[in-house]
Amino acid sequence: MSDQISVAFVCLGNICRSPMAEAVFKHTVKTRNLDDQFDTITSFGTAAYHVGEDPDYRSTQVCRKNGVPVSHAAQQIKSAHFSQFDYILAMDRENLRNLSRIQPKNSRAKVLLFGEYREDTQFNVIVSDPYYGGVDGFETNFRQLSHFSETFLDREIAKS
Ligand code: 4NP
Repeated sequence: MSDQISVAFVCLGNICRSPMAEAVFKHTVKTRNLDDQFDTITSFGTAAYHVGEDPDYRSTQVCRKNGVPVSHAAQQIKSAHFSQFDYILAMDRENLRNLSRIQPKNSRAKVLLFGEYREDTQFNVIVSDPYYGGVDGFETNFRQLSHFSETFLDREIAKS
C-alpha cells in the first residue's frame, strides 16, 4: 500500500527507551490489526556508543513481563533517515535538539516528542532516561509508551 506509514523512535543510546517504544508500538499496531497501515517501524539512538548491541536487559524484562516481544540491534540515526520516515519521535528534549542538528531542510519526516501524543495528564510528556536508575524507571517508561502508542494510532490512523 503506497500510503503506509514509517515510524522511527529515537533516544540517546537506543538500548533502553526507543527499542522499548518500537516494541510497544509494534505490539499495539498488531493488537489493533493495523499492520497493513505501516511500512517500517524501528528505532535509533542519537549517539553511537551502543551500536550493534541488544536492548538493555531491563527494557526486555519489562516488555516480556507485559507480553511484548523485543528484538532490535542498536543503530545511530543519520541525516539520510529523515527522508525514509514519516514520523521521527523523540523521547526527550535533548534527543529532539540533537535531531534538529542533523535534520536536512525540507525533510520528509515530522520530528516531534512522542509525548506530544499524551492525552492523560497522569503521564509525563518526557520519557526520562532510565539507564542509571532502577527497574521502576523502565516500568514508568513502559506505561507512558503504551499510552502514547494508543493515542498515536487514534489520531494518525483515524485520519487516513
Ligand atoms: P537510552 O538510555 O537513551 O534510553 O537508550 C541510555 C543508554 C545508555 C546511556 C545513556 C542512556 N549511556 O550513557 O551509555
